[in-house]
Amino acid sequence: MRILGIETSCDETGIAIYDEDQGIIANVLHSQIATHEQYGGVVPELASRDHIRMTLPLIRRVMDETGATASQLDGVAYTAGPGLIGALLVGAAIGRSLAFAWDVPAISIHHMEAHLLAPMLEEDKPDYPFLALLVSGGHTLLVEVSEYGSYTVLGESLDDAAGEAFDKTAKLLGLPYPGGPVISALAEKGNSERFHFPRPMTDRPGLDFSFSGLKTFALNTIHAEDDSDQTRADIARAFVDAVVDTLTIKCKRAIEQTSIQHLVVAGGVSANRQLRSSLHRLTVQTGSMVYFPRPEFCTDNGAMIAYAGCLKLKAGKTEVLMFEAKPRWPMSEVV
Ligand code: KG4
Ligand code: ZN
Repeated sequence: MRILGIETSCDETGIAIYDEDQGIIANVLHSQIATHEQYGGVVPELASRDHIRMTLPLIRRVMDETGATASQLDGVAYTAGPGLIGALLVGAAIGRSLAFAWDVPAISIHHMEAHLLAPMLEEDKPDYPFLALLVSGGHTLLVEVSEYGSYTVLGESLDDAAGEAFDKTAKLLGLPYPGGPVISALAEKGNSERFHFPRPMTDRPGLDFSFSGLKTFALNTIHAEDDSDQTRADIARAFVDAVVDTLTIKCKRAIEQTSIQHLVVAGGVSANRQLRSSLHRLTVQTGSMVYFPRPEFCTDNGAMIAYAGCLKLKAGKTEVLMFEAKPRWPMSEVV
């Protein structure tokens, strides 16, 4: 089985082909950073227009690169939500039109489900059941995955997502968009002893998160201190330590509560080096195992959509031609 995957939920156009026997045989990505960076964040209308410009040429490119013909494809998978409505509609309209023209099924994919499945593209992959920490720009979720398609949300962010907190705090420190990777790099030069930020919601039971207070904490610290490079690095360090510690504490709690020993970490923030090493240390302590996608499959990409499409098609979950894009789509409603 061979599936074309289309990802256009936010600020990256990702196109890939997944072949059940050979794995990912093509994977291209167009990032819109250059389009949005002057505005300090994603401008939805510009994102949609850029997806319109890039999606078909990139599909043509992966088809040419692999020598794949339309007749060799068994389905077209596209991100149907959650995400920016205009951006989603571009992928959905193109994906469904191609599927219609090629007479193959169209497969709508939940973006966070695809992130959650991305570690399955690696050689060393987890067994079911596993826990998934999903940390992206729009969502922070702790999910119990009993098997493919069976997801129980154990905890989620009540306000800002982890990636959003990274981006907003980076902006306060005058760093460019997207702030996650930049603030993490700056944090590596910082002194972890100088400032201490709270670990939100770790002092009470439960697996929910709240990150918006950290941004305010950072703002107050910025106002109270000088604006030297070292101070900014020290604030970045305190912020990253607080997010990483909080995520680690909640993962530890989830492992203890469920006795599930396999932990998957996915979504853009899972590319974070500090988070990776902290979760490695945790799983060594608890005798469990942690699985990350390779960095290019942590952030948005078409490969995870093509792979999720293959699983969904094999499970017999195809759809009627009508389509719906969902800017909000709780994971509890995935069928
Ligand atoms: O999953 P993703 O590519 O897009 C969404 O689905 O949102 O995640 C993007 C988020 C952004 O907030 C970005 O700043 C963050 O992931 N991010 C990082 C790192 N790389 C990307 N955050 C912290 N450290 C990183 N290395
Ligand atoms: Zn994502």
